[in-house]
Amino acid sequence: MSQNHKIETIVVADTDALAARAAQQFVEVAEAAVAARGRARIAISGGSTPKAAFKLLADPAQPWFKRMPWSQLELFWVDERCVPPDHPDSNYRMTKEAMLDHVPLAPEQIHRMEGELVPEIAAAHYESLLRNAFRLEGAETPRFDLVQLGMGPDGHTASLFPHSAALHEIGRLAVANHVENKDAWRITLTSPVINQGAQVFFLIGGADKADILNQVFTGPRDTGRLPSQLIRPASGILTLILDKASAALLPANGESERGVFERKE
Ligand code: 6PG
Repeated sequence: MSQNHKIETIVVADTDALAARAAQQFVEVAEAAVAARGRARIAISGGSTPKAAFKLLADPAQPWFKRMPWSQLELFWVDERCVPPDHPDSNYRMTKEAMLDHVPLAPEQIHRMEGELVPEIAAAHYESLLRNAFRLEGAETPRFDLVQLGMGPDGHTASLFPHSAALHEIGRLAVANHVENKDAWRITLTSPVINQGAQVFFLIGGADKADILNQVFTGPRDTGRLPSQLIRPASGILTLILDKASAALLPANGESERGVFERKE
């Protein structure tokens, strides 16, 4: 049975506008989740792109800091590098320096992945942390209010890298994944968990991502080579927040910031 997926694109002028639009998205979704459910559970990615948005969220001079419902927020990670939390490559460290050190979030609201542990143990710890935090039973999957993703130049997202073992994982919530071309281990949420997110958005910027973006969202399906194609939210809508440079090859939005196109499967 073919199932169409809506790809909603929000295209802004440049990197600064991208960070501001992402900060707005975090706040709006968190506000709506708190209004509906009394709290907001958000899973964030690492890499470089979200850093500027995290800094804006933590800046008291910016509108978002005052609006973010910090006391009802719970922060989770989509993936982590297998390094200690104070290591320069740590996604947790990046987020701590850009945001956590500057916002009123208590330690019990911050659920980092333990990159310093043996990868399989860290993944198992995170799986049980998710089961407890979401009070899961049996094969239930956690449902984040928002999942923020990035995309690498090779089409990976989270730490779901091309032709890696974690691509095929459908029973676990979080796994250790060995990345051949980096000869490194990562901890990552699995695609079924990401796809249960109430809202899932890719945050991508820069001309160097235009070709891979086009391949992923308009090209033939090849999830082994392009793991970002595994992201098909159960909600039926996937949001892309992009700058003009990265969106250059996608179906145009015309003058409007927003556009929608269907992806036939
Ligand atoms: C990580 C990320 C990863 C990231 C992409 C894009 O730990 O590296 O979670 O999936 O989102 O690699 O990274 P950039 O934003 O740096 O391009």
